[in-house]
Amino acid sequence: MRIAAIGFGNRISGVYKSCIRKVCPEARLVGLLDSDPAAARARLPVDERDGPIACDDVAELISRTRPDAVLVGTRCDAHARYAIALAPYRLPVFLEKPVATSMDDAIALERAWGSDGSKVVVSFPLRLTPLVRQAQAWLAEPATGRIAHVNAVNYVTYGGNYFDMWYRDNSVTGGLFLQKATHDFDYLAHLVGHPIVRVAAMALHGYVHQDLSLRQGEGDPDVSYHASIGTPETGMNEDCSSALIEFANGIHGTYSQVFFPRHATAARGATLSGKRSTISFDWATDRIRRAWHDRPEAEERMLRAVSGHGGGDEALAQGLVDLVRGVKSSPAPLQAGLESVYACLAARESSRTGTIATVRRWGQA
Ligand SMILES: NC(=O)c1ccc[n+]([C@@H]2O[C@H](COP(=O)([O-])OP(=O)(O)OC[C@H]3O[C@@H](n4cnc5c(N)ncnc54)[C@H](O)[C@@H]3O)[C@@H](O)[C@H]2O)c1
Repeated sequence: MRIAAIGFGNRISGVYKSCIRKVCPEARLVGLLDSDPAAARARLPVDERDGPIACDDVAELISRTRPDAVLVGTRCDAHARYAIALAPYRLPVFLEKPVATSMDDAIALERAWGSDGSKVVVSFPLRLTPLVRQAQAWLAEPATGRIAHVNAVNYVTYGGNYFDMWYRDNSVTGGLFLQKATHDFDYLAHLVGHPIVRVAAMALHGYVHQDLSLRQGEGDPDVSYHASIGTPETGMNEDCSSALIEFANGIHGTYSQVFFPRHATAARGATLSGKRSTISFDWATDRIRRAWHDRPEAEERMLRAVSGHGGGDEALAQGLVDLVRGVKSSPAPLQAGLESVYACLAARESSRTGTIATVRRWGQA
């Protein structure tokens, strides 16, 4: 299986080495398109570094390396541009999230792929984790009763990444709804079975994380200071943000993401209430629980993840390999990536304007 990569950085090299090669040992990286090809090549095992041909643009990458699939793992703001450039070839594409960071890019991406977005595997591992699959199985049981409410949290204990690595550049990430909540909005919509249609959101900027260069000598021991992370006025990632979300079937829920807690505060998961029972799961503990509304009983399972992102990364790689072999359709098609981006863009807009934002619908004119 011939694989080409556009942006072979930390994330995509990890997906290739630990997941794609694991589920498909015969896969080989044959082509690279990266703004730093030497560093990209160095992410390969020593005996594979001479394998891939480095190319300067998408047309050269496709014509010289004839890939069976292309991985796109550049930084966030270039995903849509490369996915649009790949669209005419209609090859299977593994596309990192967020699939776009602006409305213009998202609409152009939707139009470029048209009805063939099922050839894209969006890098949404959470929807494929054992915990989400178990929640889906329980939700499908008539005894649960259809979902009437959701409440999701994400206490990101590695949140320093968003203030000291390149992710601190808000003009590249587009903010942390697009960077982080895109995953959570996706698995929630996947579980509810309907896209998010309206969002009321709030975000806190510059309260915990502040630009060190602007605050020299004013050390508050409770505040993390970092250089060049922007300001609320110039644009910066948020310390935390929350959204009240409504789904197309009329039910609603909440989501909060908090980027300054550390250590044992880690928690990421959701509580979904059906008419007769409530299901809660947390990737930080690998546990899922169902409690009944008509009796004082609950059951709990521990489903330990076998690969990154709660076991979802390997399932995504398997999804790509199955797509290339033509045996299954994408487990995370472009429509899902774009519906999540549309919800994130609405959340960002709502948090900026203080109004309830309507989410653009997939296929809308
Ligand atoms: N799905 C997930 O769970 C998950 C996890 C981590 C990161 N990500 C996403 O992966 C993306 C990459 O993150 P990373 O941490 O690997 O970053 P990185 O900086 O390590 O990797 C980016 C790579 O793209 C290359 N690059 C940058 N601009 C380019 C351009 N215009 N053309 C070609 N190559 C270019 C860089 O040289 C680098 O090799 C981000 O968008 C991030 O949101 C997703």
